[in-house]
Amino acid sequence: MYTQTELKAHVAQAAVEFVLPQLRTDSILGVGTGSTVDLFIDALAAHKGAFKGAVSSSERSTRRMRDLGITVYDLNDVESLLWYVDGADELDPSLAMTKGGGGALTREKIVASVAKNFLCIADASKEVAVLGAFPLPVEVIPMARAAVARQLAALGGNPVLRADFITDNGCQILDVHGLQIQDPKALEQRINNIPGVVCCGLFALSGASIALIASQEGVQRRELSDS
Ligand code: A5P
Repeated sequence: MYTQTELKAHVAQAAVEFVLPQLRTDSILGVGTGSTVDLFIDALAAHKGAFKGAVSSSERSTRRMRDLGITVYDLNDVESLLWYVDGADELDPSLAMTKGGGGALTREKIVASVAKNFLCIADASKEVAVLGAFPLPVEVIPMARAAVARQLAALGGNPVLRADFITDNGCQILDVHGLQIQDPKALEQRINNIPGVVCCGLFALSGASIALIASQEGVQRRELSDS
């Protein structure tokens, strides 16, 4: 039996093997955040001469890449990215995701929006039929926290302030428990429209293009045509 960390390492290696042939020496890669991405960065570093560098979605990933000699570019200096590679907290059959367990959801969504393709990397525990068992992170402007929480409660959720946590953008996170997200696109739109919300951790309006999922049986690819 492989441990969850070993599965994350398997999918990280598979992701490097997937993107590497598509990268040229002038390519810049979008890189997400989290424990799976940490392992992806470690595996990617062995090939740092094969591409130009990366745009990062968090201070955490930036530090890790720079420590390993990968050049990190400011998104403002980059026009396009072919791939954005990131983990997920939950992934449904439509390749909609819940993200933000690590608190980097806003920068993740920004960098992902610039990339042509989103490669989701995860172990099989992240696959679900319906999103919602993992509390949905919502980044909020601090002065709007209570007002946003009331609106999230009106949508049927139970928002809980993430304790002792400030995002890279100086904001706070409400983790919304108790949602059964049958229509992730509609809910994402609805939450995006609440004044004071910086970003909603649903990645459904623009989900993953491809997912690589590691299980005891190996790494499998999920694409929309599979569902
Ligand atoms: C970070 O904010 C998240 O969106 C991560 O991508 C997500 O939480 C997956 O993290 P792990 O790879 O650590 O499970």
